[in-house]
Amino acid sequence: MEQSSLKKQSSGNAVEEIKNRLDIFETVSEHVLLKKSGRNYWGLCPFHKEKTPSFSINPEKGIFKCFGCGAGGDSLSFLMKVNNASFWETIVTLAQKFGIELPEAGVTSANTELKKQILEVNKQAAFYYKELLLENKEARDYLLKRDINEETIEKFNLGLAPGSIDGLIKKYDREIISKTGLSSFKNRIMIPIRDEKGNFIAFGARALKDSQGPKYLNSPDSPVFNKSKSLYAIHQAKEAIKELDSVILMEGYFDVIAAHTHGLANVVATLGTALTEQHVRIIARYSDSRRIYLAFDSDEAGVNATNRGADIIKSAFSGLGDIKHFDESFSDSTVKNERTACEIRVVTANTGKDPDDFLREQGAEAYKQLVKSAPLLIDYQINRIINLNDRSSSPQDKARLGKDVIPLLAEIRNSIIRNEYTRLVSERLSIDEEALNIEVKKSLQNIKPGESSKKALTGINKEEKHLLAQKNLLSLYFLNNEKFAPLCINNYIKEVELSDTNLNLIKKNIDEIVENFNDSDKLFDELLIKLADNEEAKKVLTDLIYSVDDKKDMKSDLFHRYIMDHIAYLQTHSVFEQQEKLRVSYYEDNRDDMSSSRHQQKVKELIKERRL
Ligand code: UTP
Ligand code: MN
Repeated sequence: MEQSSLKKQSSGNAVEEIKNRLDIFETVSEHVLLKKSGRNYWGLCPFHKEKTPSFSINPEKGIFKCFGCGAGGDSLSFLMKVNNASFWETIVTLAQKFGIELPEAGVTSANTELKKQILEVNKQAAFYYKELLLENKEARDYLLKRDINEETIEKFNLGLAPGSIDGLIKKYDREIISKTGLSSFKNRIMIPIRDEKGNFIAFGARALKDSQGPKYLNSPDSPVFNKSKSLYAIHQAKEAIKELDSVILMEGYFDVIAAHTHGLANVVATLGTALTEQHVRIIARYSDSRRIYLAFDSDEAGVNATNRGADIIKSAFSGLGDIKHFDESFSDSTVKNERTACEIRVVTANTGKDPDDFLREQGAEAYKQLVKSAPLLIDYQINRIINLNDRSSSPQDKARLGKDVIPLLAEIRNSIIRNEYTRLVSERLSIDEEALNIEVKKSLQNIKPGESSKKALTGINKEEKHLLAQKNLLSLYFLNNEKFAPLCINNYIKEVELSDTNLNLIKKNIDEIVENFNDSDKLFDELLIKLADNEEAKKVLTDLIYSVDDKKDMKSDLFHRYIMDHIAYLQTHSVFEQQEKLRVSYYEDNRDDMSSSRHQQKVKELIKERRL
């Protein structure tokens, strides 16, 4: 960070010049088909899968925003994101393109240089480890026991990290080795992790002996590696994912290796971490139908991972349509297959083993059969509940059971499909269909219609409301209202405490700029330059600009009220927060006497103090 702000000072003018040369429409239209509507242009977001456009650019302000995935920023942000490049990489490329000279060009690309070095060292280390493995009998035998032959070693570039790192140190300087984290791997089978392009970004490392812990180690996160955005074998699987229009997600490295060896090519795994929305987005890029098979271990941990993973996938696709809840091939119903946002199926080997074990014991055909007949998530979840409880028969048991399935049923938005499932469940559990239906309907009323409702002020939680109130206030600076110029708004908002780091940063910068630029547009331009290399802050700034439109038609007298209401809300909110804290700490100090007058007094004082 230090270094980057230094760099910014020395090449600030060049960055500004580059920024001025960029046109958001030109920049974006190289990647997105845009259609004009009102003052903005709209298109399909390049950062997440969608079928109706929620990505927009505002040519006047030179910014973009996606209402689906939340991405936003200026032309620079767009280029960074679309090319998966850092701020300085992008600046260096653009400087070359526009023929702008960057002062200390060598320094500015330091990060690019470091990334390149790490990738190169990782790659060479991978081949060095492979040589060591091929020469080592113990390691070869270990892999042979796992049915991993030389061909597989070659295909996945498996290797062996020896007991000493002397060999590596002779080749590379210590600093680079420490950045790659390679020195922590000793006596381990090395599994190179490669990104979508095939770069060697990290390693997974399995202990060679059972006595050695932990079983697996991963490279630390680095400028080229982020665990929660990486999928093992994506490089090898991406073509098959496209071709088969589906992906199989497993838990472990060796599950994936076994799957590919057995001819299942569309298989990837997370790296010992929970599935994230970023993982889901990578997968979605390759499979149009987003057909995702969860093939986790069939132990309890695997079942939990399946349920959590499914929630993440649903949340990633929320607002983009229904999750497939109904398989027409299992029914003679005439319901047409609805267009779905994604399809989640669950592959379970009921031997209690992981896919690696299953494949080695029962072979490829048996596993393919499992995949072929894998139930939809909802069937898997409902069946689990039914099977776990098939001996429950008392009315109380049934009511309890009903509680478990009702949320699953209530989640189905299509009412024909929902009723169909309700009928099935009532039959299997011998529960009265009508009674179950009534409970499901009750539960339906409590479910918010999709994640998108979070965006409306009603129904969002306190934290979000608090944030929204802060955003509402700051967006007023950009309203371009004659009567309420930035300086005037600053007088109102001067004393308000902002809890969000980015809003705070924006506000601080406004405070510095506003004396010289008492004009919404200029203030905005100046802010963008100040925040040029801060993606998070630019994204928040973009949100502020986009929310200005809702306030455009506000009358001047209302305007005053609006500000006052918001300030009052923020002040009470922070009183509320303090009250909560006080209540908790007080409760801990003085468990028996919650209603003591001392406590009441303290709260009163606090409220008074904050409201003054
Ligand atoms: P498992 O414990 O299921 O291991 O962990 P596995 O893949 O079946 O390994 P083998 O077959 O015994 O060699 C699943 C995944 O969780 C991560 C690894 O990514 C592993 O592949 N993991 C596991 C860790 O990161 N650290 C550990 O200590 C264990
Ligand atoms: Mn295993």
